[in-house]
Amino acid sequence: MTKKLLEVVSKAIEIARWAPSSHNCQPWKVITLEGAGKQYDVLLDQPLKSNELLCCLALDKKRQLSALPSLQFEMYISCGLFLGLFWLAITQQKARCRFHWLCDAELNLSWLQVASEHESELLVAMVITAENHDLIRDNQVNTVESKLNQILELVSTRRTFRGLFEKKLFDHEMIENLLSRRWPKVLTGGEALVQFEQNGELIRNTTKLVAKYAALDFSSYRAWKETYRYIRFDQQADTEDGFYLQSLFGPMPKRKIKFYEYMLSPLVMQALRLVNVPHYMAKELSKLVEKSAQLLVIKINDEHLSKRNLVMMGARLMEVWLQAHHAGVAFHPLSVLLQHDEPREALQRLLQCHNERIVFVARVGYIKTPEDISPRRTVQSIHTAVYS
Ligand SMILES: Cc1cc2nc3c(=O)[nH]c(=O)nc-3n(C[C@H](O)[C@H](O)[C@H](O)COP(=O)(O)O)c2cc1C
Repeated sequence: MTKKLLEVVSKAIEIARWAPSSHNCQPWKVITLEGAGKQYDVLLDQPLKSNELLCCLALDKKRQLSALPSLQFEMYISCGLFLGLFWLAITQQKARCRFHWLCDAELNLSWLQVASEHESELLVAMVITAENHDLIRDNQVNTVESKLNQILELVSTRRTFRGLFEKKLFDHEMIENLLSRRWPKVLTGGEALVQFEQNGELIRNTTKLVAKYAALDFSSYRAWKETYRYIRFDQQADTEDGFYLQSLFGPMPKRKIKFYEYMLSPLVMQALRLVNVPHYMAKELSKLVEKSAQLLVIKINDEHLSKRNLVMMGARLMEVWLQAHHAGVAFHPLSVLLQHDEPREALQRLLQCHNERIVFVARVGYIKTPEDISPRRTVQSIHTAVYS
């Protein structure tokens, strides 16, 4: 049974690894604890049965972004995006997933040891249970495989879209469809408020904020150095993370790629501050915002800002993002507005958030399917099996 459950987990990772993450850094790690016995019981409501496997989602400290304090939020959200897809793929395989939150909790020595051995921060433990003893009966195999393939097709074709969206506004029915809750609240939580903003004046004011503040990111040496590490200039080279230059600026000839590789390098960018290049880049980004029909905003009440709620919010975002992709809609996150206090607080004032923090903002709209590639880590690099 453990072997079968390990296969279930492996297939779930195959799907979840397509989750989006900041800079495509993919800061997640899945640890399965085979034969886990009493030492982990403290956090579990009952001892593990023979048809159960203990598995843990963790934030990989070696992979997390750290140039700005606000990136910590994005790491939890990214892990939540992964968790959403992981849960979806587990449940499609006739298995159940019981959550035991480890972040924000006091951990016993066994858990602390797992965290330190794997250089990671443990977020949530999951007890994966086979619904029936054979897990999937023979006559269900094809149905389950075909459902998993459909999900894989959907998640692996979703892309962040950084070009111009179609001008069309979402109607009421579309918004209801995108925001409908199909995933359980034990996964997606209830504290994050997700909303679409279509007010023209608000979009114009947000455009001004991007034009005014986005240069902060391009001109901060530390932040840009970290970002630059994730830009990939050669689509043929083997890579497992980061994003291609072409995903930012569209297709271009080789010599132009070489030119950008040099121009965008952190030291050159510092020099280019003298001739206002970061402001020019901010202005270009703001033009895209100006032409967007709607924004997606997610906020959480200050009182409920916790690691767990950020991870859950990530799962909720994944649910909405997937529904959007299914409906021909793409997202372009605008983290430049949230990574520094000044623009974030200005945006919060615009949106009349009194006791709430905006944790995610994106331009959103209809697109014609983009043909873009985005690298991913292998299942083996994400999954670590521990025998105890
Ligand atoms: C929390 C979060 C913040 C992000 N912020 C930005 C951003 O500010 N600008 C941007 O172009 N993409 C942003 N992205 C998109 C990622 O760069 C993208 O998901 C990643 O490169 C993988 O590409 P894909 O979404 O096309 O698979 C963000 C993604 C996440 C999850």
